Amino acid sequence: MTSLLALCVALFAVAVRAQTVQVDGNKVVEVLTRLANLSDHENPAVTRILFTPNDMLARNFVKDLMREHHMTIREDAMGNIFGRWEGSDASAGSVLTGSHCDAIPLAGMYDGTLGVIGAIEAVAALQRAGFKPSRPIEVLFFTSEEPTRFGLSCSGSRAMAGALTAEALESKLDSQGRHFLQVANEVGYGAASTSDMLAATRLKEGQVDYFVELHIEQGPLLEREGLDIGVVTAIAAPAALEVTFHGDGGHAGGQLMPDRNDAGLAGAELALAVERHVLASGSVDTVGTTGTFEIAPGAINSVPRDARLAIDIRDIDGPRRDRVVAAVLASAKEIAERRKVRYTSRVINQDPPASSHEDIVSAVAASAEALGLSTKRMVSRAYHDSLFMARVAPMGMIFIPCKNGWSHRPDEFSKPQDIANGVSVLALTMARLSGGSWPRTEL
Ligand code: GLV
Ligand code: MN
Ligand code: MN
Repeated sequence: MTSLLALCVALFAVAVRAQTVQVDGNKVVEVLTRLANLSDHENPAVTRILFTPNDMLARNFVKDLMREHHMTIREDAMGNIFGRWEGSDASAGSVLTGSHCDAIPLAGMYDGTLGVIGAIEAVAALQRAGFKPSRPIEVLFFTSEEPTRFGLSCSGSRAMAGALTAEALESKLDSQGRHFLQVANEVGYGAASTSDMLAATRLKEGQVDYFVELHIEQGPLLEREGLDIGVVTAIAAPAALEVTFHGDGGHAGGQLMPDRNDAGLAGAELALAVERHVLASGSVDTVGTTGTFEIAPGAINSVPRDARLAIDIRDIDGPRRDRVVAAVLASAKEIAERRKVRYTSRVINQDPPASSHEDIVSAVAASAEALGLSTKRMVSRAYHDSLFMARVAPMGMIFIPCKNGWSHRPDEFSKPQDIANGVSVLALTMARLSGGSWPRTEL
């Protein structure tokens, strides 16, 4: 009877889709660890700044991996690197995925890199499973998501989305006083002018049908709630300001207190005002950070003559964020007048928030569910290249837990199993969005 049943099953069995992907999280960690070695600081710290020798080595490392997985490589004028896995419908827009490999000073080894190395592994897993894409699938290494070198975040994706003007990019200099174009030309990217470079980088209409990015959460919620996958619904609005104060300096012993106009103290007051204005919003979603505070000449026996502050203000609510920005700028003016120092202020960027597209949100949620993983819909408080990709294509993001929510520090950590989960969800999400075919297996 049992064998008769088995025979019936075999006879009546129709082909069944093998929608399973196998991802070894330890193997992904091993590749991430090799990439982490390309760093200006000794591991576990990772420092990798745009177009430095280690950034160029990381680019070669990623291109080699893309080639190993049969992807065709294209690099644009800004140094964004695309690895393309052709689909049966070569004329369709691609399903694009990717993130960044640059790392702020003394960062960890997962921020951004997971979304590049994990994406290559997701493609590899789909290839091993015999999936044949319909829309092409492309993996992208974005140029300079971090603002470290030129003070501008998401340079590559801003340019791809047409959200960066030549004037804005040319106004940014690195610490050596050099322009992006100059440095890009030296490492083999670039163009004759900044405008040509930006025009060549801009994505064409219809080139991308969907964009999805895998990233560590960089916050504590998934781990705290014991959940596997974050389905990102929106990305908070980031703004960056630069304020400088200039006083007259003087001798720390000789100059009497009433005669001073101490630029350092003006800066200190402004840093405290940032905290005060942010807290006054009354929402935990409003955050503000004075991440850089430099004083000059920087001698114990000299009254600070100059102070330069770089201030980061974010909120999921754009208008509320804008009110905090305005209040901080007003405080800078008031402090400068009261303390009799000269000042300049500059908004480096003040970007709106972005929403994920429902098609990607549901594709990510359905893929996680198919794998038996628990999910949470959540906003991203960190910014990502996805913020700008949302302007050119339906966008979505996949988060995995990271230890204590730590990020931008050397002890950033995600478990191999969480990495395997994230890569598997990315693979199935891309397969859904690509609309390709799975091999059929006989029962
Ligand atoms: C990205 O690194 C951010 O600061 O959100
Ligand atoms: Mn980062
Ligand atoms: Mn990142």
